[in-house]
Amino acid sequence: MNRISYLILLPLAACVFLGCRDKPKADEDRIENGNAELIFKEDYRPQFHFSPPEMWMNDPNGLVYNEGVYHLFYQYFPEDIVWGPMHWGHAVSEDMIHWEHKPIALFPDDKGYIFSGSAVVDKNNTSGFAAQGNAPLVAIFTYHDPEGEKANTDTFQTQGIAYSVDNGESWIKYEGNPVIDNDGIRDFRDPKVFWHDETHSWIMALVAGDHAKFYRSSDLKEWTYISEFGREVGGHGGVWECPDLFQLQVQGSEEKKWVLLISINPNAPNGGSGTQYFIGEFDGTNFTSEQRDARWLDWGRDNYAGVTYNDVPDGERIFIGWMSNWDYARDTPTKEWRSAMTLPRRLNLQKIGNTYELLNYPLNNFDKIIQPEFKNNLVVGGQKTHHFTFDHFNESEIRFRTAFRNFKMYFSNDSGDTLLLSMDQNKKEFILNRRLSGKVDFHEKFAPKVQRMPIDNLPEEPFEMRILMDWSSIEVFVNKGQYAMTAQIFPNEFYKALDIENNNGSDLIFLEFEVNAVESIWRQSP
Ligand code: FRU
Repeated sequence: MNRISYLILLPLAACVFLGCRDKPKADEDRIENGNAELIFKEDYRPQFHFSPPEMWMNDPNGLVYNEGVYHLFYQYFPEDIVWGPMHWGHAVSEDMIHWEHKPIALFPDDKGYIFSGSAVVDKNNTSGFAAQGNAPLVAIFTYHDPEGEKANTDTFQTQGIAYSVDNGESWIKYEGNPVIDNDGIRDFRDPKVFWHDETHSWIMALVAGDHAKFYRSSDLKEWTYISEFGREVGGHGGVWECPDLFQLQVQGSEEKKWVLLISINPNAPNGGSGTQYFIGEFDGTNFTSEQRDARWLDWGRDNYAGVTYNDVPDGERIFIGWMSNWDYARDTPTKEWRSAMTLPRRLNLQKIGNTYELLNYPLNNFDKIIQPEFKNNLVVGGQKTHHFTFDHFNESEIRFRTAFRNFKMYFSNDSGDTLLLSMDQNKKEFILNRRLSGKVDFHEKFAPKVQRMPIDNLPEEPFEMRILMDWSSIEVFVNKGQYAMTAQIFPNEFYKALDIENNNGSDLIFLEFEVNAVESIWRQSP
């Protein structure tokens, strides 16, 4: 059994992360001082994932790139750490790693709460919201009228717009709201709008209970219904939410396909909330797909309501999801804020065997905050276990390539918590077991079962396995994101040991096995 101890190598970092954590001060203090050092050391505070400075957050909204800035708006309730009257919180980034928190962008009004939606750069000022020759940002969102809901009407969700002429610093709601009224559909929400060059028009994807609807506009104010999709295909054990429609080039070919993302809650493969995708064609009016069954962007319990950025300069499709699940989102054991976003991930379409697959994988940019700690080929003998210690597993990346599909990885700490990842060759399955991973009893649905991910279309050659673990989350990417699993974890203290178990008769070989520390995104500017 080999033993590599990093404790000696990293005394300073160990102090920063383990020994020297301050107790958070009163909220007012933390916010007024804007002191990131103080704010972002609470128990379970993600160190390299986005989280709000305080209070409740859910879906990412209004993902748009404009004038050098990536905007991230999000469903936000500034008065409590549980869901409530929805606002759009706001943050910006220049590199998709470090985020600057901004004031709240959109507040509820007499038409209702501000539910999820998108934002576009209106380059040709089709809306006329900006002075001539300028391009406003336009946000398109759902108004949710709580009174209408209480009165049990079916018309309490409508679509509204707002604009900004100072790159998102301040917002004005359109006086003609709502721009799409509701004619009797209870769940009628989450507009995703994009510019469609071929038809020279704006297209909106919207969800309506068990299907998606599409609308067209020339000015973002007047919308015409054009088509619908999905009543009889894909997963239908829950409500459809947060659609997204975009085109991607199939890697290594000239072929292009359209992708429709649809979140569904409940009834994702491992329970509760999840995101399915459809691959097909969009002719400017209809989205069609030969696919009948649901395919899943991420198999973990904690990647929901994810959508992609509009207007990224080099045409990349960047996705961010909310790292939680409606099954237990309101009960996770954090105190000052609740929940975080996934890492921004690049979406990529590949034909693997006979199937088009949507891969999702962290942006290359992320490598900038990685500090190498260990890199070597690793051989674990038959029926042997390889033991690592490292005080930083909860702020780390582990990465290797292997042709082997049968092994187990146990992360553990001195409190007796264990998180298990395992690859099962016979079942062609990856399993994440967080049942004993730390605090799990805050909700009965958090960890009753293991989370399973079929890896049945994994190519024969060696594949990469990449694991990113933050204070309260783990993201696993198999074969560069062909298979992804995202899960929250709440260990009682950082995991400090990793045991790699080889139950096979012969050697298990991991090529270029790397353990890297990940820098906190909150302690330095980009
Ligand atoms: C998805 C969702 C959306 C809705 C928002 C409300 O998580 O339910 O459909 O717009 O959250 O906060």
